[in-house]
Amino acid sequence: MPAELLQFLDRRIPRYTSYPTAVQFLADVDGSTYTEWLAALPAHVPVSVYLHVPFCSELCFYCGCHTTVARNYTPVAAYVDLLEREIVLVGRYLGDRRRVVHVHWGGGTPTMLQPRDFARLTAALRRTFTFATDCEIAIEIDPRTLTRDVVFALKEGGVTRASLGVQDFDPRVQKAVGRLQSFEQTARTADWLREVGIVHINLDLMYGLIYQTIETVAETARRSLALNPDRIALFGYAHVPWMKRHQKLMPEEALPGALERFAQSRAATIVLKQAGFRPIGLDHFAKPDDLLARRQRQKGLHRNFQGYTTDEAAVLIGFGTSAIGVLPQGYAQNASSTVAYGNAIKGGRMATVRGRALTEDDRLRRDIIEQLMCNLEVDLAVTAARRNRSLNDFTAELSEIEALARRGLVYRSGGTITIPEDARPLVRTICAVFDAYLSNQETRYSRAV
Ligand SMILES: C[S@@+](CC[C@H](N)C(=O)[O-])C[C@H]1O[C@@H](n2cnc3c(N)ncnc32)[C@H](O)[C@@H]1O
Repeated sequence: MPAELLQFLDRRIPRYTSYPTAVQFLADVDGSTYTEWLAALPAHVPVSVYLHVPFCSELCFYCGCHTTVARNYTPVAAYVDLLEREIVLVGRYLGDRRRVVHVHWGGGTPTMLQPRDFARLTAALRRTFTFATDCEIAIEIDPRTLTRDVVFALKEGGVTRASLGVQDFDPRVQKAVGRLQSFEQTARTADWLREVGIVHINLDLMYGLIYQTIETVAETARRSLALNPDRIALFGYAHVPWMKRHQKLMPEEALPGALERFAQSRAATIVLKQAGFRPIGLDHFAKPDDLLARRQRQKGLHRNFQGYTTDEAAVLIGFGTSAIGVLPQGYAQNASSTVAYGNAIKGGRMATVRGRALTEDDRLRRDIIEQLMCNLEVDLAVTAARRNRSLNDFTAELSEIEALARRGLVYRSGGTITIPEDARPLVRTICAVFDAYLSNQETRYSRAV
C-alpha cells in the first residue's frame, strides 16, 4: 500500500451499519412516532428482533458497546422485568403476532442472564411473535463467564448460532486490555455449545489494540482455526475515548498507527484466506459453504447493527437500552441509560429518545452504501432508477469516484462502481462518497482501517 494512501486509512469514517448513521439521529423521533410506525406495519411483513443486555461481569478496556459492570445479579434481574414489559408493550402496538425470522441477543453479555430469566424472556417473545420454523437465534457469548447451565438454557431457548468474544489470544495483549481469557476457556465453550447441538460458531477477533503486532494478530487467526468456526469477525479497534472514557485506561501511545493496523488486518486476512475462508465485506470471514458466503455469492447479503447478516427482514424491532428499531419509515432508538429506559417502560411508555425518519434521498443512498459494503459493487444507474433518479443526480459523487479510480481504489464502468479486492479495507472510504451527512462529522468516528 503506497504511503500516499495513508490519508485514506487515517480518515475517520462510519462503519455504515445503518444510513443515516446513529450520529444523525434526532430527538424528534420519540415514543409516539415509534408507536405510529409500529401500528402502521402491514401484518404480513416478517420482522427480526434484537434484545440488548447491557451488563458484563468485568470491563474490557477497549469496549465500545453500551454496557456496564454488574457486580451482582440485582440490576440484571430488574432489567429482565423491564425487557419483559417492553415486549408486551410493543406487542400491544403491533397487534397481530408477527412472523419472526431472526433473533439476536446482544450486549454487553446476554449470557449473564440466569437460565430462568433467559427462558422467561424467550417465552415472552414466543407469546408476542410467531417464530419461523427456520428462525435463526443468535447470541453473543463471553467464554470466560459462561456456565453449562446457561448453555442448556440456550439450547432450550432455541439458540442456533453463537458468537464467542476472543479478540486476541496473546496474554500480553489480553492483560493490557483487561481481558484474560485462555485458549482452553474458548475451546471449552465451543465444545459445550456443540455438545448440545448449537453448531454454528462465530469468533470475534480484533486488530489495532495496544501491544498487538502483525504476529500476535496472525497467530490469533491461526489458533482460531483450530476451533473450527464457521465465521470470524475481525473488527478494527474503534478508539473513541471521547465517548468511552474507560478506553483511556490503555496508553494511547501504545496503539498501533494506521499503517500498522492495515498490516495487522492484512496478515490475519492472509491466514484466514489460506485456510479457505472467504472474506465478507469489510471485516467478516466465512467458510465457503456457510450461508453468509453463499449469500455473498448470490449478492444477497445485508448489513445491520451487528455487522453482516443473511437476515432478509427489512424490519427490526429492538428491545432494551440503546436498542435501535428499523421500520419502513425510519430508525428509532431507545434511551441508553437504564434509568431513563426503566422510567419509560415502568410508566407504560416506549423508551424511544431519538431516531431518524428517512427521506427518499436517504433510502437511495442507504441502498447504494449497503450494496458497496456487502458486494463491493453497485450498479448506480439501476439502483438510482429504482427510485426514479439517474446518474445525473450524482455528478459530484461520480467526480470523486473518478479521483479515487485514478488511484486504483475503485473501477467505474458506465453506471457500475466496483471496489477491487486489494482496496477492500477502504470500502468505507468509497461509501463515504455517497454519504450526504459526512462533512464536518468525521471527528466523531473511528479510523477507516
Ligand atoms: C457487543 S461485544 C459482546 C462481547 C461479549 N460481551 C464478550 O465479552 O465476549 C461484541 C464484540 O464487539 C467487538 N468490540 C467491542 N468493542 C469494540 C471496539 N471498541 N472496536 C471494535 N470492536 C469492538 C468485540 O470483538 C466484541 O467481541
